[in-house]
Amino acid sequence: MKVLVIGSGGREHALCWSFAQSPLCEKLFCAPGNPGIESVATCLPIQVLENEKIVAACREHEIDFVMIGPEIPLANGLADALRAADICCFGPSKAAAQLESSKGFMKDLCKKYNIPTAAYERFTDPQKAKDYVKAQGTPIVVKADGLAAGKGVTIAQTIEEANAAIDDAMIGGAFGEAGAEIVIEEFMTGEEASFFALCDGRDALYFASAQDHKAVYDGDKGPNTGGMGAYSPAAVIDDAMRDRVMKDIILPTVKGMKAEGCPFTGIFFAGLMITATGPRLIEYNCRFGDPETQAMLPRLKSDLLSALYATARGLLSGIELHWHDYAALCVVMAANGYPGAYEKGSVIGLDEANKVQDGIVFHAGTARNDKGEITANGGRVLGVTGWASTIVEAQAKAYQTVDKVNWPEGFCRRDIGWRAVARAKQ
Ligand code: AMP
Ligand code: GLY
Repeated sequence: MKVLVIGSGGREHALCWSFAQSPLCEKLFCAPGNPGIESVATCLPIQVLENEKIVAACREHEIDFVMIGPEIPLANGLADALRAADICCFGPSKAAAQLESSKGFMKDLCKKYNIPTAAYERFTDPQKAKDYVKAQGTPIVVKADGLAAGKGVTIAQTIEEANAAIDDAMIGGAFGEAGAEIVIEEFMTGEEASFFALCDGRDALYFASAQDHKAVYDGDKGPNTGGMGAYSPAAVIDDAMRDRVMKDIILPTVKGMKAEGCPFTGIFFAGLMITATGPRLIEYNCRFGDPETQAMLPRLKSDLLSALYATARGLLSGIELHWHDYAALCVVMAANGYPGAYEKGSVIGLDEANKVQDGIVFHAGTARNDKGEITANGGRVLGVTGWASTIVEAQAKAYQTVDKVNWPEGFCRRDIGWRAVARAKQ
């Protein structure tokens, strides 16, 4: 098969790394890719929102299968454009991608199909939103309806904070169009976990679990980011919990999406709160997680490409997934200053880190300078994954690899996996 991956982050590097090991993969392309991806794929200078150019590239290179990495091209209808051109692809239609691109859509689906989630209301009028906050009390959660790169959520401890969040989104335009409508919802307590399941429109198959760390500093302090690290599996998702989440959350979603006329094909990434009364849905993403993927794929023993291709063709029922008995942990290395202002262009030395066994450096925001050296070209720059038979060893492996990266202008959290490591040490 000739395969094209869409995207340029650490998730796409991990997907390409996995596909490149598949006996099915004859030739691998990535658009636009990055310098890490270049070591396993041919990178094409096409951006993720250029649907027509992507379709044309598929024709030119006789692509058999397209794997769409990020949410933005999905919300931009790339899967629809590819399917209209008769090109097989992995990822939901624009209509089905609303599960992620509109929190209001996702919440209404939950209500209609009885999927456990936080109680909520949708608002387009700031005054009505404030009246609701006043009636409900705090803590309460204010969310921009649309895509806001993980930044559209405020957990308000006071009425003033909630009102400020409403004003920022609806009057200040902090999230542009994405904040013109908001969802206000009940604050849930418990342990969070990320839950992944493949879906071909009819059937769903559990993929894996992970936990991520959104806050920028150790101890889960500081502002939220796109994710500073992740590990897999998540201990809270044992076999009984997995079955319960499939039955109470994933399968009703499959059924609901079909009944609504927008069957879902791709991967469900459910953000869960494991509460005292059971699992509840925080949100859906409709793609692989970043950096969760960098921690899940090294654990997969089965052929990823064949599983995703079967999913895309509606043939999921014949698929079984087998996993190594490892834990894996990914530490994100970011440019000093991230998530605030940071500089681009510093040189990163990877020669020593690239020699490590049972560890790998995935590139996210990197570029090459005139001399061919790898440079920092974004906020989150590298995802360094280690794997081993236990989470404690996987964490040690990931940090040993981090310590071999020669990049004084970068930093990382030193406690990725702390909850799982503390649990394991107990
Ligand atoms: P989201 O972008 O919807 O995943 O929200 C980002 C983060 O905000 C989640 O990972 C949770 O930590 C937190 N969060 C969102 N909604 C709620 C809620 N209803 N109750 C408690 N925490 C929440
Ligand atoms: N790690 C969170 C995300 O991919 O949205």
